[in-house]
Amino acid sequence: MAELGGPKGGFLGLGNARALSRDLLGFYRDNARAHGDAAAFRIGPIRCFQFSHPDHHHEVLVEKAKSFGKPARLRRVLGQWNGNGLVVNQGESWVRQRRLTNPAFKPQRIARYVDIVNRRAEMLLAGWQAGARVDASAAVYRLTFGVVAEALFGSDVEAHTERFAAEVAVLNVEGMREMSSPIIWPLWFPTPAKRRIRRATRYLQGVADAMIAAHRKAGEDRGNLLSAMLHVRDDEAGGDGGQMTDRQARDESINLMLGGAETTGTAVLWTLHLLSTHPEEQARVRAELAEVLGGRAPTAEDVGKLKWVERSFQEALRLYPPAYLLPREALEDVTVGGHAVPRGAQVTLVVEVTQRDARWFPEPEAFRPARFEGEPTWPKGAYLPFGLGPRACIGRGFATTEAVVALARLLQRFSVKPVGAVDAVAQVSLHPREALQLELVEGGG
Ligand code: HEM
Repeated sequence: MAELGGPKGGFLGLGNARALSRDLLGFYRDNARAHGDAAAFRIGPIRCFQFSHPDHHHEVLVEKAKSFGKPARLRRVLGQWNGNGLVVNQGESWVRQRRLTNPAFKPQRIARYVDIVNRRAEMLLAGWQAGARVDASAAVYRLTFGVVAEALFGSDVEAHTERFAAEVAVLNVEGMREMSSPIIWPLWFPTPAKRRIRRATRYLQGVADAMIAAHRKAGEDRGNLLSAMLHVRDDEAGGDGGQMTDRQARDESINLMLGGAETTGTAVLWTLHLLSTHPEEQARVRAELAEVLGGRAPTAEDVGKLKWVERSFQEALRLYPPAYLLPREALEDVTVGGHAVPRGAQVTLVVEVTQRDARWFPEPEAFRPARFEGEPTWPKGAYLPFGLGPRACIGRGFATTEAVVALARLLQRFSVKPVGAVDAVAQVSLHPREALQLELVEGGG
């Protein structure tokens, strides 16, 4: 078996830890440039591997999915507020929870959320005027946060959305910090950071508990995600006939809020940015909107017809995947691409590098929504903004519908022009470094 190259990182590989905490994505990009599709390195006693060949992704996420779990460190940090929600859950418990949560994301249910997106897009547009320069980041995150919150809990949650979003932001910052810190203190530890985490977690759990109690009391299916989770019975093949406990519904609710708002918002922002800097692509999108919608609000049936809106979104997800890395831990000795990966090793799939690789996407830096016309020309595992295999994103259909409807509504009303240069920063998601500013132009561009 060929020995893998990789950065040495000096004494005990500690230089690698420093390089990772300085520039997470940059570290993996440099390794891929220097060592190719597979590299190995150490951080202290921990053996780490990175892979960016599509076949490697497929092997880890699909063919050998059972040999990999979420890294213990990630589970420990996120578990403080995600509890045992889907993102961090493992084994049989994950299988059951995924089975119980899947029905909430069936296409018929997602169709019901289109009204929520339309209404919230209208609220956003009410604050936008032609000729203005707007802070698109603030507006779009408010929109995507509000959409997930309302789709999850119903309109009763309105009074809590601002604070909820603020506390989620606190957890994202503290989570990122803890992930790269040498020691993860227990939750009760009396530091200011831990106090912030405890306060935010208590708040999110309190809101979720209140919503669950109200739904249980009302009894009926209110059509939202929480209702779906509370009413589903585990009757599918392999099911035990039971239902989700309140505790599990709380963990899943918090998970969906954390997993669903920032990712979708970031992807919508990149799509707006890329369309603003590619006027010919924006013109094609706007012509499609005029033809399919003729000025009316999009319905669930329209979503599939808005091909260029969706392709622009897909291409934005290729260039700027919000989940730019997929971390795993080997649960047993296993091979990837013929390389031995021992049990306990940390494995990182570098999605951003693969999706910008000229072998799979000619002229990879170019924004070309037309790549998504017809059958994919790239191998399985080359395009994976929503992951792959059994642990792929449960919210893919939800996010796509939400993004297409929101983009349609905004671009139907205004065309957008860029304001200054924009670059990306890799934190919890890969998002614009500064708040994205856009100039609004009434009607045509
Ligand atoms: C553009 C928007 C989104 C992107 C790019 C995205 C990306 C991803 C990716 C890459 C994964 C797999 C992670 C891994 O394999 O380690 C994932 C999982 C997940 N996503 Fe999303 N996501 C998006 C929107 C959403 C939405 C809207 C929701 C819910 C409302 C959601 C909920 C989840 C959950 C619960 C998981 C864990 C699934 C499991 O392990 O069973 N995501 N997402």
